Amino acid sequence: MSDQLKVVPTGAALGADIEGVDLRDIDDAVFAKILDGWHENLILRFRGQDLDDDSLAEFSCRFGELDMAPTGRGGTPFDPTRPEITVLSNIVVNGEAVGALGNSELVWHQDMTYNDLPPKASLLYAMEVPEAGGDTSFYNMYKAYETLPDDLRARIQGLSCKHDATRTSSGELRHGYDETYNHEDRPGAVHPFVIRHPATDKPALFLGRRPNAYVPGLPEDEGDALLDALWDHINSGLHSWTQQWRAGDLVIWDNRCALHRRNGLDPNMRRLMHRTQVRDEARPVAAWAS
Ligand code: SIN
Repeated sequence: MSDQLKVVPTGAALGADIEGVDLRDIDDAVFAKILDGWHENLILRFRGQDLDDDSLAEFSCRFGELDMAPTGRGGTPFDPTRPEITVLSNIVVNGEAVGALGNSELVWHQDMTYNDLPPKASLLYAMEVPEAGGDTSFYNMYKAYETLPDDLRARIQGLSCKHDATRTSSGELRHGYDETYNHEDRPGAVHPFVIRHPATDKPALFLGRRPNAYVPGLPEDEGDALLDALWDHINSGLHSWTQQWRAGDLVIWDNRCALHRRNGLDPNMRRLMHRTQVRDEARPVAAWAS
């Protein structure tokens, strides 16, 4: 079966299609090729899949232990029988949202980096997609690091960043948090600015997201200027690729070395996605650690 599998890179800075695979039925040899393709290309897309929550969770588990979904109604899972599945949707039924993140545009981010142990992988499966909008872009953080100007690279050497736990990537305040924290007491996790990927051994810029980020040990204005310079570098770079969804697409991204963001969508068009996340085995390690 593994000889039918083809890895077809997008030709952009990251991303590849995997062809010739039904994700409901893969063996270890096929999975080994998928894993190699993922480490090489950071993002993999599998078109034309037919997954229910069981088969999505089963395939996701091949990468490791699943995290519990971070968002839901009032802090509870959307489906209490499947707490590992995050429902992302703009659909409202009887006045109630069926999923998280609605119609809004999301900022560049890495998932759940406000945890000490952020997920290594996120798998997003498209069940219903709008005719236009709701695309997801990805950004190669190895290349972001490689192309960093020398002075900026020297400035972040040995420094870490505190990642905010209180807001989603659409800016919404998460259940259980309030608006009033200052940088020191805002809940979140501290991670090095540059991490070494445990599988590829390559350094990657590790930024999480810009809003409410904080550089411990630097005066606030200096830390903010440094963060702005790093995000300007991201926003001026070309190391991205955009996924235009079709129903039946499964996309998996490496959360350790890729950012992602979604553009906005027309509230009259339906979008329904199910996502799993795979817990990493260890905290991100600084690229400069011996
Ligand atoms: C996410 O940030 O995980 C959601 C991306 C999307 O809805 O396309």
